[in-house]
Amino acid sequence: MGIIKSVEEFNSNIKREIISAEEIAEAVKKAGKYIDDLYDGNPILLVSILKGAYVFMADVTRAVTAPCEVGFMCAKSYYNGTVSTGAVKITMDLDQDISNYHVVILEDIIDTGRTLNDVVNLLKTRNPISLHVVTLLDKPSRRKVDFKADLSLFTIPDYFVIGYGLDCGEYYRNLPYIAEYNEV
Ligand code: IMP
Ligand code: MG
Repeated sequence: MGIIKSVEEFNSNIKREIISAEEIAEAVKKAGKYIDDLYDGNPILLVSILKGAYVFMADVTRAVTAPCEVGFMCAKSYYNGTVSTGAVKITMDLDQDISNYHVVILEDIIDTGRTLNDVVNLLKTRNPISLHVVTLLDKPSRRKVDFKADLSLFTIPDYFVIGYGLDCGEYYRNLPYIAEYNEV
């Protein structure tokens, strides 16, 4: 997919909405409650992996009522169009010591599981008080490594999705809902 040159072309790649903005809002509340329940007087650090999880992160932080901080990492899983090539690289790391924190990773989608598996293994070596993974979307049928989130909000079949932070060729992150991408 190259540069999109018109609104018509942009819209023609959106096959159908699969999760509405309202359903996402309900799931975000659930994530906020889950994180609040982890609070025991020790600080919570919400970590999101850019770019895909930035919208989810922004919404979940506002659904959390316990004291918390935010941190960002960048992990790139290499894609050939919509097909994962299997290589994961940490291109931006956290800048704080996480050993005194309950760390919660907020992820947009778990596909092969490689990205989170690598990120979780890395963060574990830094001895956080606890480490939990909350994912908005989960495609368990696509797993290449054994990985399970602590909280998975929507399980979806094996199709490529866009919207609410998720992209195809950097487009569609701005959709307020999750849609199936029209792969032609
Ligand atoms: P994994 O390492 O294969 O689990 O892939 C995780 C990353 O790939 C996600 O954080 C997304 O950025 C991207 N990804 C996987 N599936 C999709 C999809 O259906 N739409 C958009 N991005 C996806
Ligand atoms: Mg991502």
